[in-house]
Amino acid sequence: MNTYDVVVIGSGPGGYVAAIRCAQLGMKTAIIEKYNTLGGTCLNVGCIPSKALLDSSEHYHNADKNFKEHGIELTGLKPNMVQMIKRKDDVVDQTCKGVEFLMKKNKIDIYTGHGSFVDSNKISIAKADGSVEEIGAKKTIIATGSKPITPAAMNYDKQRVITSTEALKIDKLPKSMVIIGAGVIGLELGSVFARMGTKIEVIEFQDRILPGMDNDCAKELTKTLKKLGMTFHFNHKVTEVKGNKTSATIKFEAKEGGESQEIKADYCLIAIGRRPYTDGLGLDKAGVVADDRGRIEVDHHLQTNVPGIYAIGDVVKGAMLAHKAEEEGVFVAETLAGQKPHIDYNLIPGVVYTWPEVSAVGQTEEQLKEAGIPFKVGKFPFKALGRARASMDTDGMVKVLAHKDSDEILGVHMVGPRVADVIMEAVALMEFRASAEDMARICHPHPTFTEAVKEAALAATDNRPIHL
Ligand code: FAD
Ligand code: NAI
Repeated sequence: MNTYDVVVIGSGPGGYVAAIRCAQLGMKTAIIEKYNTLGGTCLNVGCIPSKALLDSSEHYHNADKNFKEHGIELTGLKPNMVQMIKRKDDVVDQTCKGVEFLMKKNKIDIYTGHGSFVDSNKISIAKADGSVEEIGAKKTIIATGSKPITPAAMNYDKQRVITSTEALKIDKLPKSMVIIGAGVIGLELGSVFARMGTKIEVIEFQDRILPGMDNDCAKELTKTLKKLGMTFHFNHKVTEVKGNKTSATIKFEAKEGGESQEIKADYCLIAIGRRPYTDGLGLDKAGVVADDRGRIEVDHHLQTNVPGIYAIGDVVKGAMLAHKAEEEGVFVAETLAGQKPHIDYNLIPGVVYTWPEVSAVGQTEEQLKEAGIPFKVGKFPFKALGRARASMDTDGMVKVLAHKDSDEILGVHMVGPRVADVIMEAVALMEFRASAEDMARICHPHPTFTEAVKEAALAATDNRPIHL
């Protein structure tokens, strides 16, 4: 039996990054993945494929709606979904192979098969050919990720009642789609199809999109998504979904109760959150405990209740984000090597890749109010920015929240062009506990979208934006 210093179960961004860092630190490392390709949800059916389709559909949308204004005239424009999906598959394939290359480069042994604990130091791997192999682990990192939540009443059939996994493979443009949940997946994948002409109706339990994110950003994005043709049924709950060969029928009603409504659509996409995935992992054999939501319980070292067994990423508490999983992977590897790493969970940025994009770091106004922290607000709209007018991307704004007395930046929220990238300035400055005045006094290149950050910081620090 092969025995390793560290065995990582799951090869998503949490697992593969943990494995690389362990190997870099001199540990003999193995990674177990039940699928044939490495990279987990993120690379195979999450971040990468969804962004590939978001980019393709945005190109189509621009060509269809905005090129004319730029003086570019096209005829015979139409989406070719088969090619779009093929390009997406190629991107995924190259990215997954990249991870395989990194495993080999770092001399990490890859085991393909379903891993499960035999005991706290032994893991069995059930392979596709029916064989089973056991390996020994001095330390184990559980990085088994998450799966979509699919309540029984929604009758998830993978054909017409689908989750993001199937939505990323649709190669014939649907005429209509109902999306349950106005969270990140609902809005990103809803945008992909709405941009190409699919009629999208979203049913959301809460009274707004993106619960938990800044309310002004959510309102601004709602306006743009409505312009794109998306319809929202807020404060509604779905009571039943049924699919057949060609369509799905969705029954829903007001949250407080009321008359039941029914919509028939080509597809129903369930996007109401994800659950930690530990099925068949044999947690009981190792004695590892999970909480009532199925998340593996960990302490501040990300160690489970069993010494030597750690857990990271979507399978533990916290934001279900690839970069959070990666940070935790590095954190555990360095902890195992005797180092003293640190993660500031308050400074994990969040991004929604709609157009305009939404991004955020730190606290929202609602959180600051709840915590009784006095703060001031500075806002700057993109429509006042030359760069945004040049590219016809004038929807959105940047909001900087700073402590009322110390001026320290407490939160930055943006909706607008390329804010997925622009947010990094705020993250970096907040890591160094900068003030809004520090942010405002930094020279920003002109003309760029980043000037909106400087202006919002000027507004926050002293209410003195230049271009407003
Ligand atoms: P995962 O990536 O889920 O990987 C877990 C791996 O473990 C899987 O490959 C699984 O097969 C394997 N596994 C599970 N059990 C076993 C077992 N017993 N034996 C062997 N292998 C096992 N996040 C972002 O930050 N940015 C985005 O833009 C973004 N977009 C997303 C879009 C979509 C459509 C979805 C669904 C998610 C998106 N996410 C995004 C979330 C992101 O994908 C996850 O947060 C991230 O993948 C979590 O990483 P992980 O390593 O914890 O788990
Ligand atoms: P989510 O938690 O973002 O949104 C779920 C939405 O569904 C919420 O608005 C919620 O109020 C609503 N909802 C819940 N139950 C409902 C019901 N029964 N009926 C109607 N509405 C209901 O979850 P989502 O969109 O499924 O994404 C899952 C995870 O994947 C997220 O936690 C996110 O972190 C991650 N992700 C991240 C992305 C990014 O970083 N850009 C992109 C896509 C996913």
